[in-house]
Amino acid sequence: MYLHGTSRINEKGHLEIGGCDTVQLAREFGTPLYVYDEQLIRENCRAFVEAFQTTGFSFQVAYASKAFCTMAICRLVAEEGLSLDVVSAGELYTALKAGYPAERIHFHGNNKSPEELAMALEAGIGCFVADNFYELEMLNLLAKERGKTAVVLLRITPGVEAHTHEYIATGQQDSKFGLDIQSGQALKAVRRCLQAEALELLGVHCHIGSQIFETEGFVAAVVQVAQFLQTVREECGYTARVVNLGGGYGIRYVEGDTPRTPAHYINAITQAVRTEFAQRQLPFPELWIEPGRSIVGEAGTTLYRIGSVKEIPNVRKYVAVDGGMTDNLRPALYQARYEAGLANRMNEQPGEIVSIAGKCCESGDMLIWDIALPPVQSGDILAVPCTGAYGYAMASNYNRIPRPAVVFVRDGQARLVVERETLDDLVRLDRIADPIPLQR
Ligand code: LLP
Repeated sequence: MYLHGTSRINEKGHLEIGGCDTVQLAREFGTPLYVYDEQLIRENCRAFVEAFQTTGFSFQVAYASKAFCTMAICRLVAEEGLSLDVVSAGELYTALKAGYPAERIHFHGNNKSPEELAMALEAGIGCFVADNFYELEMLNLLAKERGKTAVVLLRITPGVEAHTHEYIATGQQDSKFGLDIQSGQALKAVRRCLQAEALELLGVHCHIGSQIFETEGFVAAVVQVAQFLQTVREECGYTARVVNLGGGYGIRYVEGDTPRTPAHYINAITQAVRTEFAQRQLPFPELWIEPGRSIVGEAGTTLYRIGSVKEIPNVRKYVAVDGGMTDNLRPALYQARYEAGLANRMNEQPGEIVSIAGKCCESGDMLIWDIALPPVQSGDILAVPCTGAYGYAMASNYNRIPRPAVVFVRDGQARLVVERETLDDLVRLDRIADPIPLQR
């Protein structure tokens, strides 16, 4: 098992993260438990900021909160000076509750509701990443009604297909997101924005996919964006001030994953912007990016307690944990792969190949197939690293399993940032009530 960030093996042979013994964390806070390495999150934030600082470009690094959105993480990335990307009233509400400066919040989404747009307008967020004509019309109207101007980035689909899992490739032309360049929709949307009384067009946005290792896709997107902005200038006389290139920077889940450093991506992007914009005599834009996974992914580790162990002779050994697809949907949804270790016996040599099963009533609820572990016993603590992005964020109550607690660890101290759901939480919104006749 690869040790990320401050993870190490302590004198007891236990996995330690942020100076905290994970076996003790499991005992104290229960399992399953999401443990976040606070220092690593901060280092990841700084790595993107510092990478930009050396390039001379004006920039914003916005944390894509969809990867992991709680009040504590919002507070942390605010402290690091990042901006924030939200995609729903829920994420926006979480950020505002955490005291996130509204002017540093960007609002995404392909189907924002009127209520969501109104809420964001009233909060005074920094920017709307508008996705379609329906949204532009509604936003213009709602802003006008309030005597406000909505600042807008137009999300365009540059037609770049990033090399990634097809479920999470979003940059291609045939996408539910954004305005297509090829068919002329994107240009039409620019015109619409420029005419709209209560909209101020700041520039364009694109996002080509997720868990991307190579720089080629980002560079190809820059070329498309530059070409598009050249057309926009010729056709509309408009010059974009901001180009947002989205997120998607890959992380190391398992051996063989080869992410580059933030500096590597940022240098490739800024070089491409320099070349492509200079060639077209376009002024250099302010560059925004939206990393999610690469800020929190490697910083999160899930701790489980091992329960039943079942060996089918000559077939397979199933090791079941007290969580599964309810706290980490990624294996079931994307066939995502993870490593794991026994947190209480980190120095022991692997002795058997087992498969890690979740506890849901669903055969697809398997966390890891065929992993080498020391001989496993019921009661061992299984640590699965790299669950910090889209783990808690996509957690569910399937089978009425309460969602786990979340702790942040740093310098030997742990703070509980999300409480474990209780059984009462599960029925909190349930009602056994008499039927109410619908009004005709
Ligand atoms: N910006 C936009 C517009 C996005 O759609 C996304 C991710 C991001 C930024 C952040 O991407 P990141 O840096 O985290 O790759 N649930 C999937 C990932 C879905 C990504 C959706 N959009 C997973 O677990 O892999």
